[in-house]
Amino acid sequence: MRVLIVGSGAREHALAWKLCRAEGVDELYAAPGNPGMAGVATCVPIPADGTLELAEFATSLHIDVTVVGPELPLVLGIADEFARRGLAIVGPSRAAAELEGSKVFTKEFCGRHGIPTARSRVARSRDEAAAAVREIGLPIVFKADGLAAGKGVLVCHRADEVESAMVRFFEDRAFGAAGERVLVEQGLVGEETSFMVLTDGSTVIPLASARDYKRLEDGDRGPNTGGMGAVSPAPLPAEVAGAILRDIVHPTIAGMAQEGRPYRGVLYAGVMITGDGPQLLEYNCRLGDPETQAVIPRFDGDLLPLLRAAALGELGGMRAAWKREACACVVLAADGYPGSPRRGDQITGLAEALALEGVLVFQAGTALEDGRLVTAGGRVLSVVGRGATVAEAARTAYEGASRVQFAGVQFRRDVGEAIP
Ligand code: AMP
Ligand code: GLY
Repeated sequence: MRVLIVGSGAREHALAWKLCRAEGVDELYAAPGNPGMAGVATCVPIPADGTLELAEFATSLHIDVTVVGPELPLVLGIADEFARRGLAIVGPSRAAAELEGSKVFTKEFCGRHGIPTARSRVARSRDEAAAAVREIGLPIVFKADGLAAGKGVLVCHRADEVESAMVRFFEDRAFGAAGERVLVEQGLVGEETSFMVLTDGSTVIPLASARDYKRLEDGDRGPNTGGMGAVSPAPLPAEVAGAILRDIVHPTIAGMAQEGRPYRGVLYAGVMITGDGPQLLEYNCRLGDPETQAVIPRFDGDLLPLLRAAALGELGGMRAAWKREACACVVLAADGYPGSPRRGDQITGLAEALALEGVLVFQAGTALEDGRLVTAGGRVLSVVGRGATVAEAARTAYEGASRVQFAGVQFRRDVGEAIP
């Protein structure tokens, strides 16, 4: 079979690494891919948001299954474009991807289907937001309605933080069209978990448990990022996992079908486990990054039939198996991330890292310049360690990370430890 992976991050590199070994995969393409993916797939220079061009490419090459990494092409309707041409694709339609594309849609959807989530108000102006803050109280969270590359959420514990959020949203208009509507939401307290499932619109298969290290600095301090590390497993008590499926995931899949927006693909629920039970923080319409880098190496068996079945509505009776080993992923980020990352710094030591037992390296913000590998984005590489336990996997990941060098590298030193 011919398989196409859309995207160019470490998440997509992890998928490509897994699929290039999979039985039944004869040809593997990546669009646009990255220098790391070029080692395992044929990279095609079409950007991930070039939905029409991608559909034309997939038609002309008779691609059997396409797997979409990032949210943007899904929110733009890549799955609709492929479906019109009879091409199998893993990912939701544009209407179903609204679960990530609009936080206001998701909030209202939760209301319609009794899905537990924080109390909120929609604000279009500073005055409306101020009224919502008075009503809901602190802590409070400001969220841009639309896609904001993981940066559109500001959690405020104090009045001065509320003031700077107001300025960012309503004076600087920092999030453009995505921030025209702002969700002002009660701040929840508890433990956060990433809960990912694969679904064909009716059958739901949970993926291995994982945990994301979201903030830039150790001890979960500093600004929010796309994710600075991840571990898998991060097991939840069975009753909590059961409650997330029963109260959040299943009502969502059923509700989306009922509303004429059947959801297919990966659904990622960001959940806060509070004293009142699990509450939905956000949905993503795709695999998590960096969670995928820690989850995919643990997948035991053939990934392709499962992905294909999800695309075709044939998941019934299938299951996913996971290796007992643990994985820890440490993200090496460029100087300046999550603001403006510096580019063009030479990266060395990859071969040394890869030579270590149990180390995998997945590339993201990298580029080849005159034959040298250089930094070309915020999150540059994911170094993954495998081990019998999360602690051992993390030690291995840090061994690997210590071999890789580039100027200004930033990474968390506490991946694998409990998040305070
Ligand atoms: P989101 O993009 O909605 O996941 O938000 C990014 C991060 O902000 C989450 O991973 C949480 O750490 C935090 N967050 C979002 N909503 C809330 C909330 N209602 N209460 C507390 N923290 C939140
Ligand atoms: N790791 C969080 C995300 O993928 O959005």
